[in-house]
Amino acid sequence: MKDEFAVSMEHIFKTFPGVKALDDVQFNVKPGEVMALLGENGAGKSTLMKILSGVYTRDKGDIYIFGKKIEGNLNTTKAQNLGIAIIHQELNMCQHLTIAANMFLGRELIKNGVLDNKRMNELAKAELAKLGASDINPETIVGDLPVGRQQMVEIAKALLMNAKILIMDEPSSSLSNAEIEEMFRIVKELRNMGTAIVYISHRLQELHHIVDRVTIMRDGKFIKEGKFSDFTMDQIISYMVGREITNQFPRDEVKRGKKILEVRNVYAGDRVKDVSFDLYEGEVLGFAGLVQAGRTETMRAIFGADKKTSGKIILDGKEIEINSPEDAIKNGIVLAPEDRKKEGLCTKLSIRQNISLPNLDEVSSKFGTIDKTKEDELIKKGYEALTIKMSSSEAAVESLSGGNQQKVVVSKWLARNSRVVIFDEPTRGIDVAAKVEIYQIINKLKKQGIGVIIVSSELPEVMGISDRILVFCNGRITGEVDARKTTEEEIMTYATKFYDAN
Ligand SMILES: Nc1ncnc2c1ncn2[C@@H]1O[C@H](COP(=O)(O)OP(=O)(O)OP(=O)(O)O)[C@@H](O)[C@H]1O
Ligand SMILES: [Mg+2]
Repeated sequence: MKDEFAVSMEHIFKTFPGVKALDDVQFNVKPGEVMALLGENGAGKSTLMKILSGVYTRDKGDIYIFGKKIEGNLNTTKAQNLGIAIIHQELNMCQHLTIAANMFLGRELIKNGVLDNKRMNELAKAELAKLGASDINPETIVGDLPVGRQQMVEIAKALLMNAKILIMDEPSSSLSNAEIEEMFRIVKELRNMGTAIVYISHRLQELHHIVDRVTIMRDGKFIKEGKFSDFTMDQIISYMVGREITNQFPRDEVKRGKKILEVRNVYAGDRVKDVSFDLYEGEVLGFAGLVQAGRTETMRAIFGADKKTSGKIILDGKEIEINSPEDAIKNGIVLAPEDRKKEGLCTKLSIRQNISLPNLDEVSSKFGTIDKTKEDELIKKGYEALTIKMSSSEAAVESLSGGNQQKVVVSKWLARNSRVVIFDEPTRGIDVAAKVEIYQIINKLKKQGIGVIIVSSELPEVMGISDRILVFCNGRITGEVDARKTTEEEIMTYATKFYDAN
């Protein structure tokens, strides 16, 4: 009976040039339930949901909303009028407008013929407060917010629409633990009020908190649907990837070598306070902590992307001057940043260009032009390791699925020879199989004697692949633990130490 479903999609097909993104897919969700949509990077999850929300048109197939067949194509306005709201995976806001302006975009409130900014600000603030983010000023320019906060604004914007069908495409990927809890609370509330919710996530550990049923896709095809509690996690993973994954967190044992990097008393901005630590050859050093604890800022200061106020960086026993990323790269220190859209990638350029850009020194010929053969080699080295799903290396990065874009960010840096590789949230939005590939790459770097730093908010990850973990709180290192012996509780204790202090 289609009537029982808020959404019912049947035999959906969609082809992009060179890619069969959806191949006879079915999907349904009932009012008052949370349906997880799962699958590897490039499986077609976002494409399916973009069709439902009118962003893309389907090539073939039927869509029913509350039992009523949709004739012809949907567009975003039509979908909104049907009560469908989507929180996009790639944040989709006007960076130069205020929060309130973004939340009311296209649905602005008017009073006496002019924009009613006061009212819009009030309503925006109230909606954010419901999400536990009452500290956010709705008049802030969106571009000035860190990604996690921007994600909150996207969620608040969807809530403001009073959607009957809410699609959340990886909403948790850049939120802090507290923000995720807040979001879960809201999702449960909406579910109890009868909203149909589609939840896409690669953080499989979080699903049991909110998910009622799951739909699993693989390579553009529908694979399985059922009650979440009827599956084990191993079954879900093997439906997703088409094989079993025995070890989600492979960690090679490598004897730690000599000291490579010494960071001494570094201060930067208002979030990095007196940070000192050492990194050794063949060591993976994890940085745990709550989102906004200052880990990203610390890495940016070491990499020269932000100015240090004071402090020293010593590489192989010699103090080095790092005032810009060029200085860092020249010294063999590289950083794969967390915000792939803003800093990590030029999405309009091809995959090839994105990988060669930071490596121009290695691919240029003596005439100052690009040596195609060297470039081909470098690109091969970079992306083959990660099996990026793409039609060709000439394709624009923006045509890749979210997780595959993340792989390009990582590839850029794997292509060159480095001493220290810093990964800031490297597996955000990456599927379980690709995560393992990235961990294998980290192991490979480790075996080559490279010092690896990994900043990650996912505790199982940081505990599973690091050797040593430093815990951050409020811009300071508050604890050091042995990754093989520690517990989540121990890390969380350090991560919340002095939480209120400055
Ligand atoms: N606008 C586009 N142009 C060309 N190809 C596209 C476009 N959007 C998606 N694709 C391709 O369609 C396939 C499915 O992509 P989609 O974004 O739906 O995957 P996904 O399941 O959401 O993956 P992820 O978990 O990485 O977000 C991929 O091969 C992708 O490269
Ligand atoms: Mg996606």
